[in-house]
Amino acid sequence: MQETPPKTPGANFTPTSRDNPPALSVALVGFGTVGRSVAKILYELNNRDGLLRLTHICNRNFERKKQPWVPSDVTWTDDLQTILNSDVDIVVELIGGLTPAEELVRGALAAGKSVVTANKQLIARHGPDLLQFASANGCQLEFGASVAGGVPVLPALRTGLSGDRLHGIAGILNGTCNYILSRIETDRIPFSEALEEAQARGYAEADASEDLDGGDARAKLSILALAGLHVRVSPAEIRARTIRPIDAVDFDYASELGCTIRQISRADLKETTLLADVGPSLVPASSPFGRVQRNLNLVLTSGEYGGDMAFLGAGAGGDPTAVAVVSDLMFVAERLAAGSPSTGPRPHRPLQLASPRVSCDFETPWYLRFLVKDQPGIIASLAAILSAHQLNIDAVLQNSGFDKNALPFVITLEPCRDAQLHPALEEMAALPFALKPCLCLPILR
Ligand SMILES: NC(=O)c1ccc[n+]([C@@H]2O[C@H](COP(=O)([O-])OP(=O)(O)OC[C@H]3O[C@@H](n4cnc5c(N)ncnc54)[C@H](OP(=O)(O)O)[C@@H]3O)[C@@H](O)[C@H]2O)c1
Repeated sequence: MQETPPKTPGANFTPTSRDNPPALSVALVGFGTVGRSVAKILYELNNRDGLLRLTHICNRNFERKKQPWVPSDVTWTDDLQTILNSDVDIVVELIGGLTPAEELVRGALAAGKSVVTANKQLIARHGPDLLQFASANGCQLEFGASVAGGVPVLPALRTGLSGDRLHGIAGILNGTCNYILSRIETDRIPFSEALEEAQARGYAEADASEDLDGGDARAKLSILALAGLHVRVSPAEIRARTIRPIDAVDFDYASELGCTIRQISRADLKETTLLADVGPSLVPASSPFGRVQRNLNLVLTSGEYGGDMAFLGAGAGGDPTAVAVVSDLMFVAERLAAGSPSTGPRPHRPLQLASPRVSCDFETPWYLRFLVKDQPGIIASLAAILSAHQLNIDAVLQNSGFDKNALPFVITLEPCRDAQLHPALEEMAALPFALKPCLCLPILR
């Protein structure tokens, strides 16, 4: 596929000369959506003022990928080993997935090459070990594009916020979920219609389970927890709740509570416990989370000294993600260029990582939405179960006009712990009038 050629190199072109350090050579592995944009930005910005030079592009069956604007001295290959055997300084991994990306990244680091990657799966699964491996080999490993695409939250955690002691990170990390939820909110369309629309517009894959059921967001949360809270937590340890049962009626009831619904990923470090959860949650409609529309990402951090910070922007897309990759390249290149000829570059100090107990036992108010076949005594039965579990009702909301054979109504609860609530939910699901298990969402104030 040929595409619009990039603009000619920028006017601030500074040729590499004897006064400037020689350009560092870069191999791009994966010439897809992000890889093409990275190559284009490097070309248009004239290899970042002579600091970086793209020398290799690796992609399987690369002939169909070739573009006329790629300089003729760039070597094209489909062989990862050619990259590992070459003398490139920095390898950019943009093929995605675990295999063969992990092998490539380990091989590059073992060969003394620094690595930039946008690979969320790889870093969520192997980030702590790879960081240690990079450090042991005197190399750098940067992964700024692996969470929130073009939003520079990981670089901020690495530099701008490294002087703080962070204890909380929360975010809207999945653009697909946010698109779907904000579409249901705006037009009160059914979940299935919002999903179909997201798929038609390319915001959701044909099988969107990873997005809808929270797998994508919890991998990103584990990376944020690694970089910001300095903890080792695998995605599988983080509870993920699906957005699939959210219905237009939930936005009606949420709005009566001054709220809307978003998929929120949150992690709070409390001494030796990491509280972590991903899933749909009620948030105040006027809050930063409540105002994030469509497929944007937002990350909020909470620090002991600096308080709260917010990072908002495009969480995906070739160009925004490529900006994050090229920024990482600049960071690595400047560190490599600053290294002394005798000792070489100074590698990152390895992060001191804790391995806390992981729990989802947050204490919050709750939104419980029931779908019942109407009959006398429903509220009394539910109230009896809640009271037996020492749970306090805050409000009961029931709008008129629904079919009595499938009646949705809401009970909100005063703050209680997740673990205290769940046995009550199980008892309530077994009641004869319940058409479905109740939808239970935390209310984040
Ligand atoms: N796209 C985004 O908005 C975005 C945002 C944040 C992070 N990321 C991350 O960025 C990375 C790249 O994403 P992308 O959207 O650019 O993916 P993509 O469009 O699928 O590009 C991947 C490229 O790698 C090539 N490739 C795959 N396996 C290979 C192998 N074994 N050897 C050589 N080439 C191989 C593919 O070739 P074929 O053409 O043959 O498939 C394709 O050209 C992923 O880790 C992704 O999670 C992407």
